[in-house]
Amino acid sequence: MNDTNYPSAFLHPFSNIQTLERDGPMVVTHGEGVYIFDDKGQRYLEGNSGLWNVVLGFDNPRLIEAAQKAYGRMPAYHAFFGRVTESALELSERLVSIAPMPATRVFYANSGSEANDSIIKLLWILAEAEGKPHRRLILSRRNAYHGMTVAASSLTGKDYVRSASGLPLPEVRFLSCPHHWREALIDEDEETFSARLADELDRTIRNTGADCIAGFFAEPVMGAGGVIPPPRGYFDAIQTVLRRYNIPLIADEVICGFGRTGSFWGSLHYGIEPDIVVASKVLTAGFFPMGAVILSPDMSERLERAAKKLDELPHGFTTGAHPVGCAIAMAALDELEAGAFDNVTKVAPVFQKQLNAMSDHPLIGESRGVGLMGALELVADKTDKTPFADDIDISERVAVRALHHGLVCRPLGQAVVLAPPFIIKTEQIEELFSILRRVLDEVQDDVSGITT
Ligand SMILES: Cc1ncc(COP(=O)(O)O)c(C=O)c1O
Repeated sequence: MNDTNYPSAFLHPFSNIQTLERDGPMVVTHGEGVYIFDDKGQRYLEGNSGLWNVVLGFDNPRLIEAAQKAYGRMPAYHAFFGRVTESALELSERLVSIAPMPATRVFYANSGSEANDSIIKLLWILAEAEGKPHRRLILSRRNAYHGMTVAASSLTGKDYVRSASGLPLPEVRFLSCPHHWREALIDEDEETFSARLADELDRTIRNTGADCIAGFFAEPVMGAGGVIPPPRGYFDAIQTVLRRYNIPLIADEVICGFGRTGSFWGSLHYGIEPDIVVASKVLTAGFFPMGAVILSPDMSERLERAAKKLDELPHGFTTGAHPVGCAIAMAALDELEAGAFDNVTKVAPVFQKQLNAMSDHPLIGESRGVGLMGALELVADKTDKTPFADDIDISERVAVRALHHGLVCRPLGQAVVLAPPFIIKTEQIEELFSILRRVLDEVQDDVSGITT
C-alpha cells in the first residue's frame, strides 16, 4: 500500500480510477451536523447528504440513541415463518398511514435495489398466480436509476449498464427521458413535450400488448440521472395512459421520499397516484440499510390471494425488517416530524434561488432542481448546449476542486449534483454556493488552458 491508501484490499464502487490513482481515497473518520471530516482533519460541507440519505446530520443523537436502545432490547431477528418484531409492526403501521396513496402493507428489503428487485418479483408472482404468465414486461425510462442488483440494474437506463454487464434483462423496455432542456424538439413547450412522451408510452403499450406489461417504474424526479424534475403535465399525461390499460405505476421514492422535493413525497409534489411506492435512504437517514415496498390495498389483496394459493409468499431476506433498522426508521420519522421537514420547506427557496443564480456562470448551461436537490449542467458552449469532450472529465474536475475547498458535490455525467442534508442552515447554503462559484471560476481557467 502506498501513502495514499490506493490500491488497497478495498474495491471502490463507482469511483473514478484516475482520481483514485492520483489522490487516493478520502478516508472519512467522523461527522458533525452537515459536515464530515477526513483522516487529515479536513472538514467538508456534505453537499450530497452522503448518497442523498444522511439528511438528519452525521451525528444525530436521537437516531444513535434509538439504535442503542434497540440493540439493547432485541438486536436481531428475522420476519419469516410468521414471526415479526414489535418495531417492524409499528413501523409498517406508520408507513401505511403516511404513504402518498391509500396503502395497507409493507415489505422490507435491505436497500433500494433489493426493494426494486422485489417489486419485479412480486409482479411476476402475481402474473403467475393470476394465470397471466406472459405479463412480464417492465417499462422504465432512459437515464433512470433504480439500483444495481441484476433486475434493478436492468431498470437503470444508463449506457454503462449495457456496456459493462450486458444487461438489461430481456423483459425491460425503455421510454424517453423526460428532460425538456436536452430532449425537447425546437420550440416544443413542456406540455407538448409531455404529451409526446405520453403518446410514445401509448404506442409502446399497444405495440407490445397491454396484457404483457407488468408495471411502469418512475422516479418522481430522476435523481442519479442528474436531478431531472418532470416537465409540466408529464405525470398527468403518463397516468392517463397507464390507467387506460390498467398498468401499475411504481413510484421509486428512494430519493424523493420523506421531503427531498419540499413535499413529503415526490408523488404528492407531482400529483402521482402510485400503486406501489419504494422507500429507502431517508427512511433510516442513512443510519441503517433498509428498503421498503409500500403496497396499495389492491396490490396487497392480490398478493395475499397469490400467497394463499402458494401457501406462503415465496420471497424475503434474512435481515429484511431488522428490528434495529425499524427502530431507527421510527426515530428518523420522529425527527422529520419534529422539525427537519419544516426546515426543508424553509430553506429550499433559498437553495433554489442560489442554484438558479449560478446559471449566469459561463460554464453552466442549465441549472435545475426542486426542493433541496439541484444540478448544474456544465457546457463547453452555452449558446448551442455543446457538451465538453469526455476526456476533459469536466464534472469530475469540479468535484475534485470542490473537495480541495472543503465541499462535497457529486459529478454525474456532465452535471454537478447537490442534495444537502435537510438540517442545513441558510448560512451553510451560502457557504456551499460561494465555494462552488470559486471552484467553477478555477475550472474555467483550467479548461480554457486546455481548449485554447
Ligand atoms: C431512485 C433510486 N432507486 C434505487 C436506488 C438504489 O438504492 P441502493 O443503492 O440502496 O440499492 C437508488 C440509489 O441511489 C435511487 O436513487
